[in-house]
Amino acid sequence: MTQKSEALDVVIMAAGKGTRMKSQLPKVLHLLAGRALLQHVMDTASTLGVRSMVVITGHGAAQVELACERQISANTHFDLKFVRQEPQLGTGHAVQQAVPVLPDEGVTLILNGDVPLIEAATLQSLLQECAGDKLALLTVDMPDPTGYGRILRAGDAVQAIVEHKDATEQQRQIREIYTGVMALPTAKLKTWLARLRNDNVQREFYLTDIVKFAVADGAPVVACKTADKVQVDGVNSPVQLAELERAYQMRQATRFMEQGVRLADPARFDVRGELVCAQDVSIDVNCIFEGRVSLGEGVRIGANCIVANASIAAGAVIHPFTHIDGEKAGVSVGEGALIGPFARLRPGAQLGPEVHIGNFVEVKNSTLARGAKANHLAYLGDSIVGERVNFGAGSITANYDGSNKHRTVIEADVHVGSNCVLVAPVTLGAGGTIGGGSTITRDTPAGALSVARGKQVSVANWQRPKKSKP
Ligand code: UD1
Ligand code: CA
Repeated sequence: MTQKSEALDVVIMAAGKGTRMKSQLPKVLHLLAGRALLQHVMDTASTLGVRSMVVITGHGAAQVELACERQISANTHFDLKFVRQEPQLGTGHAVQQAVPVLPDEGVTLILNGDVPLIEAATLQSLLQECAGDKLALLTVDMPDPTGYGRILRAGDAVQAIVEHKDATEQQRQIREIYTGVMALPTAKLKTWLARLRNDNVQREFYLTDIVKFAVADGAPVVACKTADKVQVDGVNSPVQLAELERAYQMRQATRFMEQGVRLADPARFDVRGELVCAQDVSIDVNCIFEGRVSLGEGVRIGANCIVANASIAAGAVIHPFTHIDGEKAGVSVGEGALIGPFARLRPGAQLGPEVHIGNFVEVKNSTLARGAKANHLAYLGDSIVGERVNFGAGSITANYDGSNKHRTVIEADVHVGSNCVLVAPVTLGAGGTIGGGSTITRDTPAGALSVARGKQVSVANWQRPKKSKP
């Protein structure tokens, strides 16, 4: 929330091509921690209590607009607008395109769609500096400022921004650069934008030229310097994208460790979504968390697991190399359950407390009640499995007849032997036993032993064929 009464409109520049990405995908749609660069910027901006957000698109405009609309949730409280900038004649020209959709009163915050890690607190203090009537520039000292616009000061007072290509040798020595982020009263922005000219080395309309107009008009200009370079770093190449990904992940890892989560190696821990951890969670190396994941108290995640869209209850252990992805339907793992190593839980797997799922077991759209076990080489799909059921090695539910999926119901305390095929729809009555190797096509009665396979025969004194002489 802004402390001031001025309404806030955000303009996000996202028209550039991103040539150095060498990709078909518009630059701002490249993913960082599972979210588009532009999405990071929009998500952060949306926490500021904005009235409207204007995204300036150009290269891949239709694709960028579609992606934004898909991401924006129904309960968003701001107006999302798009304006197109075709062709791209510079950053000033870009913001000019937004003029018709920006209300005159209020403050405009200008952000870059390819600067993903800017934080809300930084923007808040910039808005505070702006205070509704000043031109506030976010700046940073760069060890190597090559390519950036330099902040020219007279004493402390900001005089202008000069672009690298237009700067003198002496000006190029200046380390303080403009980050691409500014906040200012919209009415003034509009008058200054109208005065931009492209009489510079690049023949572009520079947004940064408005600083000298402000100074000429006697309007207050303030520079707000951040010490955190990562927040203002832009993405121009795959190398920079990977660098920011690592920086972001390390920050997340640190945050989790500060909450008490034990990470075997913070450099080998990736969260691409929303992870919530209770107390005493420990996570071994090379784990990836995607979508919405919650880990209950004392949960242990072994090395090399991928956990997506799942809720893991207290005390559960996910052994190494387990792949869990609930997608839309979700996966839930009950208290004290043991999963893996090498297990696969798919959408709709709902496992009760103390369930055991062992190596090379796949579970999809199935509910397993307390204490049910499938420890080796099995498939449970579209099934309901009762308490304490033991599902033998190599057994599967044949849930698909080539056209439709069918349910398998395995009532409590059933013991399914090894290598069984349960042809759905079928119900196995409570407490029953299914002989190993059976192909079960009809319901089985409670308490019975059901066997459905060829009877074993033995032929006495069997002579094996002999090798014929050449
Ligand atoms: C701009 C600033 C420079 C600053 C730097 C920080 C200007 C003139 N210069 O440099 O002072 O140090 O950012 O990164 O503003 N874009 C459009 N339409 C255009 C041109 C650019 O939408 O016509 C978008 C780009 O997609 C990008 C952003 O504006 O998201 C900045 O453009 P870029 O070319 O990266 O920055 P510079 O102009 O080099
Ligand atoms: Ca440029």
